[in-house]
Amino acid sequence: MSESQRAAGRVASVMQEERVFPPPAEFSRRARIGSLADYRRLYDEAAADPGAFWDARARELPWITPYGRVLDWRPPHARWFADGRINASAVCLDHHVAAGRGGKTALVWVGEPTGERCVMTYAELLAEVCRLAAGLRSLGVGPGQVVSIYMPMTPELVIAMLACARIGAVHSVIFGGFSSEAIADRNHDAAAVAVITADGGWRRGAQLPLKANVDRALASPHHPPTTVKHVIVLERTGQAVEMVPGRDVWWRDLVSGQPTDLPPAAMDSEDPLFILYTSGSTGKPKGIKHTTAGYVLWAKTTAEWVFDLRDDDLFWCTADCGWITGHSYVTYGPLAAGASILIYEGAPNAPHEGRFWEIVEQERPTIFYTAPTAIRSFMKWGLQHVEGRDLSSLRLLGSVGEGINPEAWMWYHEKIGGGRCPIVDTWWQTETGGIMMSPLPGCTPTKPGSCTLPLPGVVPQIVDAAGDAVEQGEGGWLVITKPWPGMLRGVWGDEARFVDTYWSKVPGKYLAGDNARQDADGYYWIMGRIDDVLNVAGHRLSTIEIESALVSHPAVAEAAAVGRPHDVKGEAVAVFVTLRSGNPDDALKDALRKHVRQQIGALAVPDDIRFTASLPKTRSGKIMRRLLRDIAAGRETVGDTTTLEDYTVLANLRSNDE
Ligand code: WT7
Repeated sequence: MSESQRAAGRVASVMQEERVFPPPAEFSRRARIGSLADYRRLYDEAAADPGAFWDARARELPWITPYGRVLDWRPPHARWFADGRINASAVCLDHHVAAGRGGKTALVWVGEPTGERCVMTYAELLAEVCRLAAGLRSLGVGPGQVVSIYMPMTPELVIAMLACARIGAVHSVIFGGFSSEAIADRNHDAAAVAVITADGGWRRGAQLPLKANVDRALASPHHPPTTVKHVIVLERTGQAVEMVPGRDVWWRDLVSGQPTDLPPAAMDSEDPLFILYTSGSTGKPKGIKHTTAGYVLWAKTTAEWVFDLRDDDLFWCTADCGWITGHSYVTYGPLAAGASILIYEGAPNAPHEGRFWEIVEQERPTIFYTAPTAIRSFMKWGLQHVEGRDLSSLRLLGSVGEGINPEAWMWYHEKIGGGRCPIVDTWWQTETGGIMMSPLPGCTPTKPGSCTLPLPGVVPQIVDAAGDAVEQGEGGWLVITKPWPGMLRGVWGDEARFVDTYWSKVPGKYLAGDNARQDADGYYWIMGRIDDVLNVAGHRLSTIEIESALVSHPAVAEAAAVGRPHDVKGEAVAVFVTLRSGNPDDALKDALRKHVRQQIGALAVPDDIRFTASLPKTRSGKIMRRLLRDIAAGRETVGDTTTLEDYTVLANLRSNDE
């Protein structure tokens, strides 16, 4: 490999942060892991003998049949706790009820319409999960079959996930903001047999037409006839919906008369628990596959370490269950750990921009876990929404989804945490199943903008494009060199894509797709993606997905999507479009935005649309995204779109060194 090829993996470092915040002494005294020495001991133990380390932790789970070997690792395929039998819903529910904790609050739910609230104990949650599980089974849904879930953030969403787990069905949660075409893609890819949805959902006072979107997805003319046989509909908003006889059933009718004590199915450790679709660097979202025992163990263990859960905690993770954060730190992690969770149905600015802090004041959560994009919104909305609110219940703050810029970190620390709460900046991915790198709140000194150190069992490395470790301080590709229990087990129905995406560029190691560097203290700093994936408001979007959506509009000949810095969303979507027909005017811009919303969802709607006569390309025909990114960001003095032509020239001149 040539020096220039090798250098492709290296990146220049962006910033140097000098501030260090030691964990508050009061926190450390009571924390599970209260000193760096304890952390190192645990880390070394896991590194020296992963089998013994994970065996000790897995033994605490309620096995139906004990496992044989802890790990069978044939790269890139791992089998954890093979031949053991277990049920994820029993880990989260029955286990606690059997131990006498059935009366403990499992979840507190706050609706978007002010005043709506409900509390469920572990015993009550278990009963509801059993009723729905029995209902699903009565429809013929069984082990290994895929059930899509397209719901608002209600307790029933958590119940639906756990009910699938209870009967061994594989859930595929589709974020409620996705369009009917996105639902159809996912149903089709997974061959889903049922969809659990609601009539509608509340979003800033408006009603999302969830059931109508499902109806449209099932009749999508762009897909083969649907595999979905049943649609289960929760009544949430009371809006009018059409019910197709023989296919659609109301949730309340399905569960009425069902038993509240359905035994959990004995699933193999490696049976799939769920699929979650995420964007990659090609147009088609990939169904990330997670299996049962390893995933649940990882979600539980990382929740206990990172959030230092104690019996009296109320844990508020603001993520929607449509994303991995909602799987691991709303549902499986905290419930497996026996914690109490807080769920809020609505948007942070509904009905007013202080809603989150009003909820903190009323419900008194102790741990609050959110995304940097939300924090930047709070900063923008202003301190008047925070000041005067009693936030004294909070003892720990978390951040996830993208790097948190030091300014937002400081604001979070001072204004929300009152200067007394440690902040855990957690780095992980849909694929990793749970948190991989994070400060431990009782022991790790934090630096604003760094996810600090790997958790025990996580062995990262930063390499160049030849797979060799870079020198300390140098940026490069982040890889994980050893298997861990929560790792993805595949891409649903696409082994080649699993191998190509994650295991080929650096053979035998998991390629995370992020650039990173390590500072002199060994702290990790994530430096952004290495592929054509954008991070908009903490969610991954592939540029190619957006481009495909644009090109499917009759007026568009060619499109290029890039990210540009955005002060709230992190990255905004900027697109460059060449036209086949139509006028390059605002009406067409509106039409294209609407089209992308229909094809993918509101998240992917471009912030900037520029029409251009041609796109800058290399001689081999590759779009020169670097140039487009510069233009989109307003870097260099590029006045208007016509100068794209100059870039085309420039591109041609430069293409020799591409
Ligand atoms: C990508 C994964 C992890 C759940 C939510 C997003 C970026 C995530 C951090 C962080 C810097 C981060 C990475 C990663 N990312 N957390 N603490 N610091 N970057 O899950 O949609 O699978 O996206 O989000 O680029 O690869 P996801």
